[in-house]
Amino acid sequence: MRKYPLLSALAIATVLAAPATPTLAQTGKLKVGFMLPYSGTYAALGNAIENGFRLYVNERGGKLGGREIEYVKVDDESQPAKGADNINTLIKRDNVDVVVGTVHSGVAMAMAKVAKETGTLLVIPNAGAVAVTGPMCATNIFRTSFSNWQPGYAMGVVAAERGHKKVMTITWKYAAGDESVGGFKEGFEKGGGQVIKELTLPFPNVEFQALLTEIAAAKPDAVYTFFAGGGAVKFVKDYAAAGLNKTIPLYGAGFLTDGTLEAQGDSAQGLLTTLHYGDGLTVPKDKSFRAAYAAAYKMQPDVYAVQGYDAAQLLGIGLSAVKGDFSKKPDLYKAMAAAKIDSPRGAFTLGKNHNPVQDIYLRRVEGKENKVIGVAVKARADPGSGCTM
Ligand code: BEZ
Repeated sequence: MRKYPLLSALAIATVLAAPATPTLAQTGKLKVGFMLPYSGTYAALGNAIENGFRLYVNERGGKLGGREIEYVKVDDESQPAKGADNINTLIKRDNVDVVVGTVHSGVAMAMAKVAKETGTLLVIPNAGAVAVTGPMCATNIFRTSFSNWQPGYAMGVVAAERGHKKVMTITWKYAAGDESVGGFKEGFEKGGGQVIKELTLPFPNVEFQALLTEIAAAKPDAVYTFFAGGGAVKFVKDYAAAGLNKTIPLYGAGFLTDGTLEAQGDSAQGLLTTLHYGDGLTVPKDKSFRAAYAAAYKMQPDVYAVQGYDAAQLLGIGLSAVKGDFSKKPDLYKAMAAAKIDSPRGAFTLGKNHNPVQDIYLRRVEGKENKVIGVAVKARADPGSGCTM
C-alpha cells in the first residue's frame, strides 16, 4: 500500500521543503530563571540585578525577540555548596530556558559546571570568577559584568601611578577576593610597587578589628581591598572609626562604594575606586536609564542594576536574531557573542571568552556619588587564560 495516497509527489516535495514552523514552545513564553542572592550580605546586589533586568524587558512590553518573558526565582544565599542543587532545580523542575545569575563567584562556578553539562544558556550578571570566562568558558555561558581581575588590575595601575611603593591588601578569602587582589598585584607590580602582606578573612565575616590593628602597626603606604554589599559598608565604617582613613589611603575595586554610600556616609568621603560604571558619565544611554530606573523603583541605580539591564539586552539581541526561536541555539549564541551592547556604562562588546571588553573608570566618592574622574584603563579585556572555545 502507498504511504501517502492523497498527496502528489509535488505536494510531498512542497511539504518537505517548507521551513519548519516554530513549535508552540518556540512562540510561547520564554522562562527566565533568576538565581540570585535575596538574603545575606549580597541581598541588595541580587535585587538590583533583577530590577535592572526587568526594567529592560518592561521597556519592551514584557517581551524579548517577540517572546513574552516569564520569571522564576531562587535565593542562592551566596552559598557555593547549594549552587549545583539550586541551578538544577531551575533547569529540571522549573524547566527554565535560560538562567540569569549570580553575584557570588563560588556559586557562579558551581552554576557554570551544570550549565556546561546540560547545555543550558547561562548569563552571568555579576560574579567575576576568572575561571568562568577562562578554563570553564563555553559557547552557552556569557557575562555582562566584569572579571574580578579587571577592576583590580586597573587600581594597581592607578596606585603605582600615584607613587605608592608598599601596599597591604585585605579581602574575603574566596575567588572574588583572591582574583581582585591578583589583578591589583599585577597592575601594581608592573608599575614598580610591591604588595607586602595579603590579609584575608572568611566570607562573609565582618570582624575586621584584628586585621585593622595589624595594618595600623605595619604602616603601609596604602591599602587595597575587595569587599561588596553589607561587608563593604561595615569595612569602610570600621576603617574610618579606627582613624586609618586619616593616615593610610584606602583603595578598592569599586564594589567597595557602589550601592553602599547612603549607609557609609562620611566614612566613605574621598575614597578612590575603579569600576566599569560610575556617576557623572556623559553617556546618553545612562541618562535615559537612570531616569527610567528612578521612575520605576524610586531609587538610583548602581552598577549591579546596570549589569542586570545589560544581561536582558544581551539576551534580547540573541532572541531578536533568531526571531524568538530559542531552538536555533548556534545562531542565538553567535548573535550574542557578536553583540554590541548599548550599556549605561558606555557601549561595549564581548571578548572571545564572552566577557566584556570595557573601560575601567577611576571614581572618587563625593557626597552620595562615585564621581568618575578619569579612565584608569581603556577598553580592557580580561586575559581569558585557559579559555578554548
Ligand atoms: C563575586 O563574588 O564575584 C563578587 C561579588 C560581589 C561583587 C563583585 C564580585
